[in-house]
Amino acid sequence: MSTVAPRAGLTGTEVAALRSSAHGVLGANWREGVRHADGLPYAYTCPSTPRYRHQWHWDSCFHAIAWSHFDPARAEAELRTLLASGRPDGFLPHTVFWGAWAGWRRAPFYATARVLGSTHTETIDPPLLAVAWERAGPPGDAAALGQIAAHLDWLARERDPDGDGLLSVVLPDESGLDDSPKFDVVFGRYAHYKPSIVLLIEHCRRLGYSARRIAACGELHLEEVLVNVAYALSLHAMARMTGKDDWAVRAAATECALLERSLDPGTGLFLDLAGNAEVPVRLSTWSALAPLALPGIPEDVKRRLVEEHLLDPRRYRACVGIPSVSMEEPSFTPHFDRWRCWRGPSWVNTAWLLVPALRELGYEADAERIVTSLARAALREGFREYYDPRDGAGQAARGFAWSTLLVDLV
Ligand code: GLC
Repeated sequence: MSTVAPRAGLTGTEVAALRSSAHGVLGANWREGVRHADGLPYAYTCPSTPRYRHQWHWDSCFHAIAWSHFDPARAEAELRTLLASGRPDGFLPHTVFWGAWAGWRRAPFYATARVLGSTHTETIDPPLLAVAWERAGPPGDAAALGQIAAHLDWLARERDPDGDGLLSVVLPDESGLDDSPKFDVVFGRYAHYKPSIVLLIEHCRRLGYSARRIAACGELHLEEVLVNVAYALSLHAMARMTGKDDWAVRAAATECALLERSLDPGTGLFLDLAGNAEVPVRLSTWSALAPLALPGIPEDVKRRLVEEHLLDPRRYRACVGIPSVSMEEPSFTPHFDRWRCWRGPSWVNTAWLLVPALRELGYEADAERIVTSLARAALREGFREYYDPRDGAGQAARGFAWSTLLVDLV
């Protein structure tokens, strides 16, 4: 096995072992073929079998970034499959069914146009495609950039009903953070892990999953921080890839809206805003720290997030990774919960988003501590869906593809 110069506090041998096993997981989860329903070719990495067989939007963005370290052609093919999954109006789905339909037991839980027979959901996922394309797509592909631009325009048109620069989600899993306790107070009996979620999905289905219609009826929608961080990061990526300033202006508008509306002066956290009244959701989960990744957030705001939250041992400074919920919250649950996720354990994509910001602000030792703890957990336990922040015990799905993002951090 070759040795690779380590970046984190890992040995060269550890980094090489991590890379080799990441490549193995990505390869084992690779799927390609032609969809029976419409003859469309596909090539993507499924998150983990047997549980997650389909293509998820933000997972694929992460997979492409990981693939770019091993096989740039596969990274590009995965992103092109995402582009092919959408509609000409710019909509790109949260989940796409390529090689298999959603099983009949799971089908009612997917936010599709019809309960059976749809090829994709009608909902969104954190919009990271432009970020992934900048890392793994051919930079000068005008047609692809046009499609990504259409997607970002669709989001602005359809998902920002009050035109304040912040996108709304209509279902909790559109944030990628399905069962986060921050949604409990907002969605109540319709929380993602409760059986009544199918009623909320059915209600959204009747309203065409349209945030504009949902907001016009005064119904529940949420300006969720992580989705907006992903959106602003993508707008910035478009500005760099196209050299056009209007993308940077749009990114700055979203960053300003986050600062003006979602930043809570008392705690320094960025809070989701619920409904037309934009009621702040007062709970500390890692998405409240996600604006650290944005270039337009002032340094003092970022340092407060780092020093008062991310590096506070009572809150987010854990033995392994970054907990998905502040350890101080009563809802913090570090152990495996069969029915609910994002309620405490550490995920690799969280570190992937926040660690570069820590490095940039000069907290190099903390950044390396976080990366090393997760990398050692992955070496010991395999690439798992998430890890116990107390001891790194691997939890939930095995061979979980986005956890290979660690190769991008070491
Ligand atoms: C879980 C995660 C979600 C992810 C999906 C597929 O539902 O909460 O973020 O996209 O699995 O991996």
